[in-house]
Amino acid sequence: MMEKLNAVITGVGGYVPDYVLTNEELSRMVDTTDEWIMTRIGVKERRILNEEGLGTSYMARKAAKQLVQKTGVNPDEIDAVVVCTTTPDYHFPSTASILCDKLGLKNAFAFDLQAACCGFLYGLEVVASMVTSGRHKKVILVGSDKMSSMVDYSDRATCPIFGDGAAAVLVEATTEEYGIMDSILRTDGKGLPFLHMKAGGSVCPPSYFTVDHKMHYIYQEGRTVFKYAVSNMSAVTADIAEKNGLTKENIDWVIPHQANMRIIDAVASRLEVPMDKVMVNIQRYGNTSAGTLPLCLWDYEKQLKKGDNLIFTAFGAGFTYGAVYVKWGYDGNVK
Ligand code: UT7
Repeated sequence: MMEKLNAVITGVGGYVPDYVLTNEELSRMVDTTDEWIMTRIGVKERRILNEEGLGTSYMARKAAKQLVQKTGVNPDEIDAVVVCTTTPDYHFPSTASILCDKLGLKNAFAFDLQAACCGFLYGLEVVASMVTSGRHKKVILVGSDKMSSMVDYSDRATCPIFGDGAAAVLVEATTEEYGIMDSILRTDGKGLPFLHMKAGGSVCPPSYFTVDHKMHYIYQEGRTVFKYAVSNMSAVTADIAEKNGLTKENIDWVIPHQANMRIIDAVASRLEVPMDKVMVNIQRYGNTSAGTLPLCLWDYEKQLKKGDNLIFTAFGAGFTYGAVYVKWGYDGNVK
């Protein structure tokens, strides 16, 4: 009989651009203060990819190159590449296809996955299915977003939140009891009015009118999104914990989407997990959308141990939300 396969993360690479946009600089662009941003959101600074001609694939490439270097994986053995993004280089071709070329992958197929801020979370489930089916052995999963490309820097309600960044993980097949163990993922399409970009898609293609009326930026009704995010993320993390016998005693890490410190606090307190077990880097990067979860792994990788119980959770446009349970597969930053 064939042994049961699990899909395990075997390495992490990351990249954030050099330019640091501070609250101090933002407060010279719009009517805001460091104090308001820190108490209402919790972002101190964010990175911005401000070099002309560089997009999401540039950050994805940097992150994936570091991943390949760190893991020592043979690029010819990569079967597939999934890039989670809402800010692709182009409408088409996919950012993943550009990444394939830049990485020199010869035996991979590649596609983008669009689930807004839940991209990487959904990506974990998709890649786990690809690997546990036995059809794909080594897959690169990337979360990369250049949010600055669609932020209106005259809108004080959204511009402090977002930043640019990318990170990537390698997912491999294993017969050991480690890896992406379980997930609860949901999509509630009723989120459209509260979080979207009004133009540029097939419903409302770009025109002088759409540009003049600032319709190519993130539109967000923050208070409504906040309410849904808190209740859905809290409920779904509690559900996945219960389903897998995870409690505040044996949860080692919670990895929440980094959209707002108050949302992160709410999720942690619902699980009764102390904040030193919650990965947080929102102060430095803000909300990098599909980048937040893997960037947390990138920052905390050294502290992770084989067998640690991790719960990932995210919430995004759609609405998309969910939680994924991972049993971590290696110690620190060596394989
Ligand atoms: O990743 C995708 C999912 N997205 C999220 O999870 C975001 C969820 N939403 C949020 O994080 C919060 O709703 C925001 C951070 C976007 C806004 O915070 P809030 O506490 O919900 O503020 P609010 O929109 O209710 O606004 C409160 C007040 C308003 O003034 P009035 O009308 O009470 O006089 C705003 O005009 O704060 C004002 N305000 C600001 N003041 C200073 C809004 N933005 C700013 C600002 N600086 N940057």
